[in-house]
Amino acid sequence: MGSPALLLQLTTNLVHNAIVHNLPDRGTVWVTTSAQPGTVVLTVENTGAEISPQVVSTLVEPFRRGTERLHTDHAGTGLGLAIVQSIARAHHGTLTLTPRPSGGLRCTVRLPAAPPDTS
Ligand SMILES: Nc1ncnc2c1ncn2[C@@H]1O[C@H](COP(=O)(O)OP(=O)(O)OP(=O)(O)O)[C@@H](O)[C@H]1O
Ligand SMILES: [Mg+2]
Repeated sequence: MGSPALLLQLTTNLVHNAIVHNLPDRGTVWVTTSAQPGTVVLTVENTGAEISPQVVSTLVEPFRRGTERLHTDHAGTGLGLAIVQSIARAHHGTLTLTPRPSGGLRCTVRLPAAPPDTS
Protein backbone atom coordinates (compact mmCIF):
# COMPACT_ATOMS: atom_id res chain seq x y z
CA MET A 1 0.00 0.00 0.00
CA GLY A 2 1.33 3.40 -0.81
CA SER A 3 3.36 5.18 -3.45
CA PRO A 4 4.67 2.80 -6.13
CA ALA A 5 7.39 5.32 -7.05
CA LEU A 6 8.66 5.64 -3.49
CA LEU A 7 8.48 1.91 -2.79
CA LEU A 8 10.43 1.29 -6.01
CA GLN A 9 13.03 3.81 -4.83
CA LEU A 10 13.25 2.01 -1.47
CA THR A 11 13.77 -1.34 -3.17
CA THR A 12 16.27 0.06 -5.67
CA ASN A 13 18.39 1.65 -2.94
CA LEU A 14 18.56 -1.63 -0.99
CA VAL A 15 19.41 -3.77 -4.02
CA HIS A 16 21.98 -1.23 -5.24
CA ASN A 17 23.64 -1.27 -1.80
CA ALA A 18 23.63 -5.07 -1.75
CA ILE A 19 25.56 -5.06 -5.03
CA VAL A 20 28.05 -2.23 -4.51
CA HIS A 21 28.85 -2.98 -0.84
CA ASN A 22 29.36 -6.69 -1.52
CA LEU A 23 32.53 -8.75 -1.72
CA PRO A 24 34.77 -7.73 -4.63
CA ASP A 25 34.55 -11.25 -6.02
CA ARG A 26 31.81 -13.90 -5.97
CA GLY A 27 29.40 -11.86 -3.93
CA THR A 28 25.83 -13.02 -3.45
CA VAL A 29 22.56 -11.12 -3.03
CA TRP A 30 19.29 -12.62 -1.80
CA VAL A 31 16.00 -10.78 -2.24
CA THR A 32 12.84 -12.21 -0.70
CA THR A 33 9.32 -11.05 -0.09
CA SER A 34 6.73 -12.55 2.19
CA ALA A 35 3.29 -11.77 3.53
CA GLN A 36 2.28 -12.28 7.14
CA PRO A 37 -1.09 -11.42 8.65
CA GLY A 38 -1.27 -7.63 8.51
CA THR A 39 2.33 -7.19 7.35
CA VAL A 40 4.37 -7.56 4.18
CA VAL A 41 8.11 -8.07 4.40
CA LEU A 42 10.97 -7.37 1.99
CA THR A 43 14.45 -8.62 2.84
CA VAL A 44 17.60 -7.83 0.89
CA GLU A 45 20.65 -9.69 2.13
CA ASN A 46 24.21 -9.81 0.85
CA THR A 47 27.62 -11.21 1.50
CA GLY A 48 30.35 -8.70 2.31
CA ALA A 49 32.85 -7.54 4.88
CA GLU A 50 32.07 -8.13 8.54
CA ILE A 51 30.23 -5.21 10.12
CA SER A 52 30.04 -4.74 13.88
CA PRO A 53 26.63 -4.12 15.48
CA GLN A 54 27.95 -0.71 16.60
CA VAL A 55 28.72 0.33 13.03
CA VAL A 56 25.45 -1.11 11.71
CA SER A 57 23.47 1.05 14.13
CA THR A 58 24.96 4.20 12.54
CA LEU A 59 24.52 3.34 8.85
CA VAL A 60 21.03 4.79 8.51
CA GLU A 61 22.20 8.26 9.55
CA PRO A 62 22.37 10.69 6.59
CA PHE A 63 25.83 11.06 5.02
CA ARG A 64 27.11 8.11 7.07
CA ARG A 65 29.17 5.61 5.16
CA GLY A 66 30.88 2.49 6.43
CA THR A 67 34.56 2.69 7.27
CA GLU A 68 35.86 -0.01 4.95
CA ARG A 69 35.47 0.62 1.25
CA LEU A 70 35.70 -2.58 -0.77
CA HIS A 71 34.68 -0.81 -3.96
CA THR A 72 36.75 2.31 -4.26
CA ASP A 73 35.02 3.19 -7.52
CA HIS A 74 31.73 3.63 -5.67
CA ALA A 75 31.54 7.12 -4.23
CA GLY A 76 28.09 7.27 -2.70
CA THR A 77 26.89 10.14 -0.59
CA GLY A 78 25.61 8.06 2.31
CA LEU A 79 21.96 8.99 1.79
CA GLY A 80 20.57 5.73 0.41
CA LEU A 81 19.61 4.10 3.71
CA ALA A 82 18.33 7.35 5.23
CA ILE A 83 15.97 7.62 2.24
CA VAL A 84 14.92 3.96 2.67
CA GLN A 85 14.09 4.57 6.31
CA SER A 86 12.16 7.77 5.53
CA ILE A 87 10.09 5.99 2.88
CA ALA A 88 9.43 3.03 5.19
CA ARG A 89 8.29 5.35 7.99
CA ALA A 90 6.12 7.39 5.60
CA HIS A 91 4.32 4.11 4.88
CA HIS A 92 3.97 3.32 8.61
CA GLY A 93 6.66 0.67 8.29
CA THR A 94 10.12 -0.06 9.62
CA LEU A 95 13.66 -0.74 8.38
CA THR A 96 15.84 -3.14 10.37
CA LEU A 97 19.54 -3.73 9.64
CA THR A 98 21.19 -6.90 10.91
CA PRO A 99 24.85 -7.81 10.35
CA ARG A 100 25.34 -11.29 8.97
CA PRO A 101 27.67 -13.36 11.17
CA SER A 102 29.77 -14.36 8.15
CA GLY A 103 29.88 -10.78 6.84
CA GLY A 104 27.53 -8.57 4.90
CA LEU A 105 24.14 -7.25 5.85
CA ARG A 106 20.49 -8.17 6.03
CA CYS A 107 18.02 -5.30 5.49
CA THR A 108 14.40 -5.97 6.41
CA VAL A 109 11.51 -3.66 5.54
CA ARG A 110 8.13 -4.34 7.15
CA LEU A 111 5.06 -2.53 5.87
CA PRO A 112 1.38 -2.75 6.72
CA ALA A 113 -0.41 -5.08 4.33
CA ALA A 114 -3.39 -3.91 2.32
CA PRO A 115 -6.63 -5.02 3.93
CA PRO A 116 -8.11 -8.18 2.39
CA ASP A 117 -10.29 -7.50 -0.65
CA THR A 118 -13.80 -8.20 0.57
CA SER A 119 -15.65 -7.00 -2.55
N1 LIG B 1 23.94 -3.99 1.78
C1 LIG B 1 25.01 -3.49 2.43
N2 LIG B 1 26.06 -4.29 2.77
C2 LIG B 1 27.11 -3.79 3.42
N3 LIG B 1 27.24 -2.51 3.79
C3 LIG B 1 26.23 -1.68 3.48
C4 LIG B 1 25.07 -2.12 2.79
N4 LIG B 1 24.23 -1.08 2.64
C5 LIG B 1 24.84 -0.03 3.19
N5 LIG B 1 26.05 -0.37 3.69
C6 LIG B 1 26.98 0.53 4.39
O1 LIG B 1 26.21 1.61 4.88
C7 LIG B 1 26.71 2.83 4.35
C8 LIG B 1 25.54 3.76 4.13
O2 LIG B 1 24.71 3.27 3.07
P1 LIG B 1 23.90 4.31 2.18
O3 LIG B 1 23.12 3.58 1.16
O4 LIG B 1 23.16 5.22 3.11
O5 LIG B 1 25.05 5.19 1.51
P2 LIG B 1 26.03 4.85 0.29
O6 LIG B 1 25.60 3.55 -0.34
O7 LIG B 1 27.43 4.94 0.79
O8 LIG B 1 25.77 6.06 -0.69
P3 LIG B 1 24.46 6.37 -1.57
O9 LIG B 1 23.44 5.30 -1.26
O10 LIG B 1 24.00 7.72 -1.10
O11 LIG B 1 24.93 6.33 -2.98
C9 LIG B 1 27.46 2.43 3.09
O12 LIG B 1 28.48 3.37 2.77
C10 LIG B 1 28.05 1.08 3.47
O13 LIG B 1 29.22 1.23 4.23
MG1 LIG C 1 23.62 3.29 -0.93
